[in-house]
Amino acid sequence: MPALSASAPGKIILLGEHAVVHGRPAIAVPVTQVQAKAIIQANPSGERGSIQIVAPAIGLDAEYHTLEDQHPLRATIQLTLQALQLTRVPACTLRITSTIPVASGLGSGAAVAVAVIRVLSTFLGKPLNDQQVSSLAFEIEKIHHGTPSGIDNSVVTLNKPIYFLRGHPIETLQVPRRFMLVIGNTGIASPTSLTVQDVHVAWQENPNRVDAIFDEIAHNTQQARTRIETGDPDSIGPFLSRTHHLLSELGVSCNELDYLVQAALNAGASGAKLSGGGRGGNMIALVSSDKANLVIQALLEAGAASTISTIVRQHST
Ligand code: PMV
Repeated sequence: MPALSASAPGKIILLGEHAVVHGRPAIAVPVTQVQAKAIIQANPSGERGSIQIVAPAIGLDAEYHTLEDQHPLRATIQLTLQALQLTRVPACTLRITSTIPVASGLGSGAAVAVAVIRVLSTFLGKPLNDQQVSSLAFEIEKIHHGTPSGIDNSVVTLNKPIYFLRGHPIETLQVPRRFMLVIGNTGIASPTSLTVQDVHVAWQENPNRVDAIFDEIAHNTQQARTRIETGDPDSIGPFLSRTHHLLSELGVSCNELDYLVQAALNAGASGAKLSGGGRGGNMIALVSSDKANLVIQALLEAGAASTISTIVRQHST
């Protein structure tokens, strides 16, 4: 049997992070320049039931049963087998590679889970549909993030821009006119679970103030949605920048993010903000195509570890 493979893209949150955990809407878009890939190959000489996981980037070469219970890869395999109502599988080797930086708001955990669930279910002759893949990946997100909203697994599974409101059916965001984002990585790994937890504590301590911030973030998200869907994406810059300030008020920015956001604006971006959990990870800037190189240059000079430019469009290629 030839090897099978599945890939899943990275993602960024355009607007609505943190507020989305507390019942407000958010917009997320795939970032196809970075990908997680899972390749599976039958291993006829192996013992039935054994799945050897090879993930060179994290130095892993182990049979999945030997990993601790809460290891995301072991959990991904176990949940997939449960969903397929299978206990014993033909011996195989599962290779995982990813170009998505970890713990930086680019959805690496969700992308690895989606790629593994897809390739394993296909290998076992029972490919799962998007809804099933996304809900299994959501269970893995809980291991990574504690109390995730579900936005990462949704956008990574669908590989399309989405408008997401917890507990509601996921809506595809209409993007009649494409637009460009530059993503700047601070190079600082920041676990989302910590910032989500801190925002939760802030909300418990001062619900009126924090709810008011969430409502303003929601307003910016709605405004941006309308403008994107009516073909005017170039006008959303101010909503991005205002949301950055609101996220700072929530305590999830840091000097490095503020510095990169300012550098992008100074170089001609029409809006910029942190993206994802914050206190590190990535920021995004809305740029016209003639400003993209200037903004990338400015971000690198301001200390960005790396940059990605990506076009947001209706369908990923
Ligand atoms: O995975 P990240 O770092 O892009 O963060 C996800 C966005 C949050 O709203 C902070 C958390 C969540 O689960 O929605």
